[in-house]
Parts: sequence; structure tokens; C-alpha cells
Amino acid sequence: MRRLFVAGNWKMNTNLASGKELAKGVAAEAQRLGDAIDIAVCPPFVYLSNVKAELAGSKVQLGAQNTWFAAPGAFTGETAVEMLKDIGCSWVILGHSERRQLLGEKDELINKKIAAATSEDLGVIFCVGELLEDRQAGRTETVLETQLSGGLANLDAAVLGQIVIAYEPVWAIGTGVTATPEQAEGAHAFIRGWLTKQYGAKVADSVRILYGGSVKADNAEALMSLPNVDGALVGGASLTTAQFAPILQAAA
Ligand code: G3P
Repeated sequence: MRRLFVAGNWKMNTNLASGKELAKGVAAEAQRLGDAIDIAVCPPFVYLSNVKAELAGSKVQLGAQNTWFAAPGAFTGETAVEMLKDIGCSWVILGHSERRQLLGEKDELINKKIAAATSEDLGVIFCVGELLEDRQAGRTETVLETQLSGGLANLDAAVLGQIVIAYEPVWAIGTGVTATPEQAEGAHAFIRGWLTKQYGAKVADSVRILYGGSVKADNAEALMSLPNVDGALVGGASLTTAQFAPILQAAA
């Protein structure tokens, strides 16, 4: 049985005061829900330590939104995996479509980052997902296969224990358009099938696959009750406790 996982990707949002307030609110909700699900928040880099302080004593885990693949050294503006571990991060989001599209991140770079993070025992939320034109042209599975095989290249099955996959169709991110349950389950089942082919059924069955893309209080339950949907990666609706709490409750 896979334990559901809901993570809030704050992207480049909040400020110091609102980030701390939000962390406090999520921690309070997590406390009310007990131990039923895993919860993480992924604030902007500059607020990671402040948010971590607000989460003290809480089961809510901390995630970063990016990392670099090399050991600490001369990489201006970058952040090493060791540094994220040092300040208490349990997760890092890699392969997000915003970084693929806006910063030109390719599968090869994402693969190096995944390898670096997992080699230091940092959990990875590895995002994959197709563009609208890919879906309309019937290329969804080809795109997913390319992103999966590129991002996970040369990583052995043991590493999968530290990876959560997030299926985020790009056309559903921040648009208010959510994948239908059929579309989400279809993509998730495809991803699990691909994992089964690569790593065997035992490993594939243990990997959590989150859905991301306009998850809100009113669609969270329908999505997370699908057989191959093991939680959610939430953007906009993770930015207030009022919107995020019902999504956590839907998972719990
Ligand atoms: O990583 C989460 C994400 O891209 C979805 O964003 O705002 O559609 O929930 P949003």
C-alpha cells in the first residue's frame, strides 16, 4: 500500500512573513490530521531555513525547488545538495516544466541532478508531463517515455526508493484546467507500466506517482482516489492554508 503524499510547490511566491505564516498553518493542519499521509512544503530558497524553523516539531517535511549536481565549489548562484541537506531539506523538486521551458533544462541535466540528490539521500520529486500540442497530437506517452528514460538514465532500481514521480501535464499547470480522472489515471498507469518494464513490478508498485496541475479542494479527492494516483503536487492552491488544508484532508 503506497502512503499518500501531498507537497506544496510555492514556486516564486510568498515573502518572509507570509511564508512563515503559511508554514505555521500547514504544520497546524498536519498536526490535526495525525500520521495518515506525508506532507511537504517547498518554499523559495531564501526562506527555506525560516520555514524549517516554523516546522520545528512538525512532521511536515521541507523541500527545495532546485539543486545543482556538483559538490560545493565555484558555481555562482547555485546550491549544492549537501547544502540542502545541511539546512534540513528532505526533498528537492527536479524536472519541473517551468525550469524545462523557461530555463531550458534538458533531460541530461535533470538526470545529473537526480543522480546527485539521490546519492546524498535527498528525496527527489521528479516532474514529467506533456505540452498541450503533444497531447493533441497523440504524443503524450512518447513524451513521458523520453522524459522518464532521460531523467532516470543509468540509475539503478535501489535509487527509485528515493524518488517520487509527479505527472504534471503542462496544459493543466496554473490554468485552472485539470486533467480528467481518465486522463490522469491513463498517464499514471502508463508511467507505472514503464517503471515495471524497467525495474520490475515490485519496485514499480512501491513508487509514488503524484498528480500536479490545478489541483484544488474540489477536485483533489476524485484525483487522489484513482488507483495509480498517490497524492498531489500543488502549486497555486498551496499558497494559503485555507486552500491547502482541504486538499490535505482529502488525502488523509
Ligand atoms: O508543481 C506544481 C504545479 O506546477 C501545479 O501548479 O498552480 O496548477 O497547482 P498549479
